[in-house]
Amino acid sequence: MPRNEPGTAARPDATAPPAPTPILKILNGVHKSAVLRAGIQLHVFDALVTGPCTARTVALSIEADERATRILLDALTGIDMLDRTGNEYRLTPVSERYLVFGKDTYFGDAARIQTHDYLWEGDRRLADAVRAGGSVLASESKDEHPFWREFAQASGQFAVQGARFTAGLLGPWAVSRPELDILDLAAGSGLYGCLLAAEFPAARVTLLDWPDVLGTHRAAAQRLRVADRVTELSGDVLTAPYGGPYDLVLLNNVLHNFGERRCVELLTRAAEALKPGGRVVVQDFVPGGPDTDPEGVARIFSVLMLIITAEGQVYDGDQMQDMLAAAGLSIVSRHEAPHMPTSVLLAERVV
Ligand SMILES: C[S@@+](CC[C@H](N)C(=O)[O-])C[C@H]1O[C@@H](n2cnc3c(N)ncnc32)[C@H](O)[C@@H]1O
Repeated sequence: MPRNEPGTAARPDATAPPAPTPILKILNGVHKSAVLRAGIQLHVFDALVTGPCTARTVALSIEADERATRILLDALTGIDMLDRTGNEYRLTPVSERYLVFGKDTYFGDAARIQTHDYLWEGDRRLADAVRAGGSVLASESKDEHPFWREFAQASGQFAVQGARFTAGLLGPWAVSRPELDILDLAAGSGLYGCLLAAEFPAARVTLLDWPDVLGTHRAAAQRLRVADRVTELSGDVLTAPYGGPYDLVLLNNVLHNFGERRCVELLTRAAEALKPGGRVVVQDFVPGGPDTDPEGVARIFSVLMLIITAEGQVYDGDQMQDMLAAAGLSIVSRHEAPHMPTSVLLAERVV
């Protein structure tokens, strides 16, 4: 067998069959998520905030078994959420910034959404959903499922980033309006509407969502001193009277919950609720074509909608444009939010 010259690396054999490593990596992904979720749930990262600790100290702090804690800490080290030197574990720059509870930068709530039992139950039944053509999860009403209440409570960090970006886009237009009445449809945390109210003193915001979800925003509205400019409207976005008219209607992360026919109904209702010159904001996953979702984020998200909704999915740019046009709206501009996988479409009524 030929030997490598000293100092030269072995060249990969182009004729060798591929190894199954990518398959194992993907199949292991769910276990990595479980490890991170447990670390967050058990407050492992909070236990290490004062500096390096042994597994025994962490176990005492989180009130867990020492051997099992060591196994978890080693696994967290294996996925780069902790470092280990000798018998001591410590936070990495990422976990120190994003996984210590109470910090402004805390991002651990993402696990309450991404690894929610409801989604994992849906993942378990994905093959059934593909056969059936939509969610097969049993629940009294899929739309009003308690998952949305937890989503509203845990999605604040995402909403803050999105709302800041939207406020920046709307700035000159919003301040040129004599009034700024905003309808935030399927508002979830309500933070989009509340943060726009904080940004634009003339804004009056109406938040619409299911009765169980509405109200999540109240503490934030007090903190932002906008509570007196926020109104709540509970009900189904597809049938509840909207009141109005409005200068701005927000559809943030909503259309992917519905099939095309319902999206057009919803967009038509949004368009009809606008004042002259008013705008609709659609923020959503909007992949522009087959090569514009390199990490598959939007396509995996579409699968999540398949497992938890009857007809929802991610729509690409052409589909969005067609649905907006069918509702009498045309896209004024499209914007890609930095550090976010979603896009923002600003649309106006076709006159
Ligand atoms: C993905 S969340 C988006 C929340 C918020 N707009 C945001 O971007 O953070 C979808 C929201 O739609 C609401 N929703 C879904 N179907 C609805 C319906 N038919 N009527 C009212 N709200 C609905 C859910 O309760 C949830 O708050």
